[in-house]
Amino acid sequence: MHIEQRVGIIGGNGWLGGAIAQAALAAGLIKPAQLTLSGRSNKPLAPALAGVEVTQYNQHLVEQAEVIVLSVRPDQFAEVNIDARGKLVISVMAGVPAEYIAARTGASEVVRAIPNAAAALGQSFTPWYATAPVTAQNKALVQALFAVCGEAAEVPEEGFIDYCVGMTGSGAAFPALLAQAMETHAIAQGLPADFARRAALGVVVAASQLLAAPGSDPAAVVQEMIDYKGTTAAALNSMLAQNFSQAVAAGLDAAGAKASAMSRQVTG
Ligand SMILES: NC(=O)c1ccc[n+]([C@@H]2O[C@H](COP(=O)([O-])OP(=O)(O)OC[C@H]3O[C@@H](n4cnc5c(N)ncnc54)[C@H](OP(=O)(O)O)[C@@H]3O)[C@@H](O)[C@H]2O)c1
Repeated sequence: MHIEQRVGIIGGNGWLGGAIAQAALAAGLIKPAQLTLSGRSNKPLAPALAGVEVTQYNQHLVEQAEVIVLSVRPDQFAEVNIDARGKLVISVMAGVPAEYIAARTGASEVVRAIPNAAAALGQSFTPWYATAPVTAQNKALVQALFAVCGEAAEVPEEGFIDYCVGMTGSGAAFPALLAQAMETHAIAQGLPADFARRAALGVVVAASQLLAAPGSDPAAVVQEMIDYKGTTAAALNSMLAQNFSQAVAAGLDAAGAKASAMSRQVTG
């Protein structure tokens, strides 16, 4: 797929904005000549972004593009003063409500999306929410933009986006926590540190690819292992008895509370 519109990414010199730009270019969704990136500084861009326009003037970017991606940090949004009336505005900022973005930018078509760090690898699961004025054509564009970053899914309520900030938006953090716990335990049992790390990543990164099959059901995999009644069942039953699920739920609740607090802070 190829899109005709020009795209501007405010904060496109940053981590996530740059990753989205690179994914869109690599997939051929847009050409370098269709893309403008902005930032306040002159920090160097990735070589893959050669040929795109770079500016320090956000309003110039807005005038160049029909589609504006807001990829500054939430607390930096206060300094982004743009008139984006008539444009599609897509925010990847955590915790900034669509209504506030519309009020600050003048755009009526506002989308909120939460990619994660794996966008750089084309492996981000990206939920997105479109406000009522967003046209079907622009929804298709949003889906295409985030599909090239991995997998994209529209959600029907903005609240799902705030929830996903702490879940899918956390990217590799939760698998990393599991790997760290396994690595630490293995080292405590006397295994060499480099071996313990490779073994933990082998489980969390490599073996988890078994879950990548279409239609994969994590609960079914867990139950199958419990029913097998082997060593894995002993581990799973012990972890479950130690409130593993409740610990995860409490973590996701804490992330949601933090997202709400950030939202209150940004909107005043
Ligand atoms: N990283 C993730 O995994 C992730 C996941 C989900 C959501 N997000 C969201 O994505 C957004 C960007 O995060 P990030 O990790 O990419 O942060 P980042 O690397 O710090 O990128 C933000 C960029 O915005 C630029 N910037 C700041 N103020 C600006 C302004 N007034 N005009 C133009 N550019 C400006 C900064 O560059 P200068 O200093 O040069 O201006 C910086 O390069 C955040 O809102 C975050 O909530 C990130």
